[in-house]
Amino acid sequence: MQLKILPQTDSKEKISDESQLAFGTQFTDRMFLMEFDREKGWHSARIQPYGPLSLDPAATVLHYSQEIFEGLKAFRRADGSIALFRPKDNISRFNRSAKRMCKPEVDEDFLLESLLELIRLEADWVPKSEGTSLYIRPTMISSEAFLGVRPADQYLCYIILSPVGAYYKGGIAPVKIWISDHYVRAAHGGTGEAKTGGNYAASLMAAKEAAENGYDQVLWLDAREKKYVEEVGSMNMVFLYDDKIVTSPLGGTVLDGITRRSTLKLLADMGYQIEERAMSVDEVMEGAKNGRLKEAFGTGTAVVISPVGSLCYQGNFVQLGKGETGELTMKLYKQLTDIQYGRQPDRYDWVVNL
Ligand code: COI
Repeated sequence: MQLKILPQTDSKEKISDESQLAFGTQFTDRMFLMEFDREKGWHSARIQPYGPLSLDPAATVLHYSQEIFEGLKAFRRADGSIALFRPKDNISRFNRSAKRMCKPEVDEDFLLESLLELIRLEADWVPKSEGTSLYIRPTMISSEAFLGVRPADQYLCYIILSPVGAYYKGGIAPVKIWISDHYVRAAHGGTGEAKTGGNYAASLMAAKEAAENGYDQVLWLDAREKKYVEEVGSMNMVFLYDDKIVTSPLGGTVLDGITRRSTLKLLADMGYQIEERAMSVDEVMEGAKNGRLKEAFGTGTAVVISPVGSLCYQGNFVQLGKGETGELTMKLYKQLTDIQYGRQPDRYDWVVNL
């Protein structure tokens, strides 16, 4: 398939003070788009001016949520060059999500090449300041106008770009986590490991409950027993328990996070023993009280590494240490961002230079 570059006339004004960059509020001038139907397969790939999509009100995505997305980032280095972090891993997860949601897969090499071309054209939008990046959002929606329930015959796949600052307003500041004992995010056999919008829509009620109680994010327990910690909606969770690293295993209900994988690799190389095992909420709460749980942090593309300062479960509040960012959390944040911003060599072949 050939990628067409359509003419671009307008250019939006960029935020000149990069300290004002929020998460996902501003979008660049161009977007990538391609279409699918059963006869032609994927076709009409183009880079075009960013703008609204034209969708039939009966488009199945609007009714039955046949939607998937990804999140990855491009970073501006000190020498002005631009690098992407593990884009191939995101694109292959995009295809795994597509399969789970009965959607057509994409040609991974073609999507990566198209993405790189889009970023070349939008290079001026990649911010320069520490902690900022260009957030990349590949998305696929079912676009066929039809009200029956079955996999659609038509799809759109598009990529939009957004210059971003920190996901949480406080930057790398400890977050307060609410553990839900009522709502669940994902059940076995469900769509928990797919990056599909419905998982996030389903999480909003618990997030509202958390916010009403003064908490930033929800930590989900497993759906079967409501006993084991799984993940926070926008990040995987990692615990420093005694001197070991503990994180939930990927059993189909937890997102296979690229930042999760990267941090586990960095921690293993620092010499930590990694335990991917079910960890009960009681163990977490007890550990926080008796000091065995030394640090906890979330990992995700948007949040990077997010320290957890306190937790609340069934009315019981516990603080981790002094409620401040832990030493290991900070070290890991530095190691990861040093690789992303090119301040340290990339020993893992994670970075794709533009
Ligand atoms: C990401 O970290 O890129 C995500 O997709 C989380 C998002 C829902 C903000």
